[in-house]
Amino acid sequence: MLKHNLRLVLAGIGIVAAISCLAFVFPIAEQSTSDKDSELSLLMRNMYTDAVNMRTAVKKRQKPVPAVPHEQILTAAASDPAKVAAPTYTTFAQAYLKALKALQEGTPKQRPALYKALIDQCMDCHTSFCPGPKMLIKNLY
Ligand code: HEC
Repeated sequence: MLKHNLRLVLAGIGIVAAISCLAFVFPIAEQSTSDKDSELSLLMRNMYTDAVNMRTAVKKRQKPVPAVPHEQILTAAASDPAKVAAPTYTTFAQAYLKALKALQEGTPKQRPALYKALIDQCMDCHTSFCPGPKMLIKNLY
């Protein structure tokens, strides 16, 4: 049983790694230079897990409290620095952080809609900057 669970976890990590932006943005020949994950990639994976936990809290009518520093999306180093240097990236990042704040301040009744609005923000930024993981992010709805 334990062995089975471990295999599932490993498969999950493999899927996340395979659909990262890099895999989509860079031609295969360049991938050997990108096997070290960026700060932003690692943060994003933690944000994903955090969103799953917040969704559970919302369903249980508990307050969704972020457990990872989401505000680091403004400063974490990306695998492609030019991308996050774009002013539109900052605009998307701020909209995302605003949605996260709204979710924490919402009433239990408002939270399901506010949670959905948060995931919409993940999707919006990804449409412009990193379409690869969108299929995975969809699972958060
Ligand atoms: C402001 C833009 C922005 C927002 C908001 C955003 N992302 Fe990302 N995300 C990115 C960029 C850019 C990358 C690529 C990072 C890199 O390659 O260094 C990325 C990468 C990822 C990855 C791939 C990580 C890997 O394995 O390399 C996942 C998964 C992800 N994001 C999930 C999410 C989730 C879930 C949310 C919302 C809770 C979210 N993102 C919100 C811009 C954003």
